[in-house]
Amino acid sequence: MKDYDPATYGDRMAGIYDDWFGTPGDADAAAAFLGELAGPGPTLELGIGTGRVAIPLSQRGVEVHGIDASTAMVEKLRTKAGGADISVTVGDFAKVDVEGRFSLVYVAFNTFFALTSQEDQVRCFENVAGHLEAGGVFVVEAFVPDFARLRAGQATQTKRVEVDRVFLETTRYDTVAQRAYSHNIVMGEGGTKLYPVEIRYVWPSEMDLMARLAGLRLRERWAGWNRGPFTARSNFHVSVYMRT
Ligand SMILES: C[S@@+](CC[C@H](N)C(=O)[O-])C[C@H]1O[C@@H](n2cnc3c(N)ncnc32)[C@H](O)[C@@H]1O
Repeated sequence: MKDYDPATYGDRMAGIYDDWFGTPGDADAAAAFLGELAGPGPTLELGIGTGRVAIPLSQRGVEVHGIDASTAMVEKLRTKAGGADISVTVGDFAKVDVEGRFSLVYVAFNTFFALTSQEDQVRCFENVAGHLEAGGVFVVEAFVPDFARLRAGQATQTKRVEVDRVFLETTRYDTVAQRAYSHNIVMGEGGTKLYPVEIRYVWPSEMDLMARLAGLRLRERWAGWNRGPFTARSNFHVSVYMRT
């Protein structure tokens, strides 16, 4: 998608993000999982967004910092209770351009895939490794790509149907570059709104290789924040990497 850059997703989505994705149950489970690993911190969230996970984590007494490319998303974070106390660097999280070392660096909700080239994804792993304290961990939550959708080369899903609006997600896949180009579309009597998303999806195995290139290794992998077993049928994974 021409003109798509790291800030595009957040700048377009900020106004509706919490309404669509702000499920507290999942964020609380994430905060509990991350809080156990982090101790008192400090921790760093890549693509912190509106603080969906960062705020409940910080409310557990953990020091949280963030990076995000979208000032619109960060402004939403700032309006929330506890959001003003979290320091956020505006920038590209592939660079991890922040001072200090962390007991935990994490990237939730498929956000690692927002880095749209393999080069940036590898660079991200390397930069995270350089910001971990001794014994520190990097946690990634991401989906496992779905062969059925990829094979068709495209997919359209009806996400929500209301009396006067319909929410669709429509995607084209480039299975060579492992990229997906999507729009979340809201169609209603007042008009149509488009929310573009571009990602580079990877399987857990490629992610583990990126970790190895960065001097990290997989310590544990779960099907979700509640520590369900990860199997060949799992649609998501929560992976914990540590220094080798
Ligand atoms: C799906 S949202 C996730 C927000 C939050 N982590 C959560 O779990 O709700 C992705 C976030 O990553 C940010 N983002 C995407 N690409 C980025 C990049 N290259 N550098 C920094 N932030 C980026 C977006 O602005 C957005 O806030």
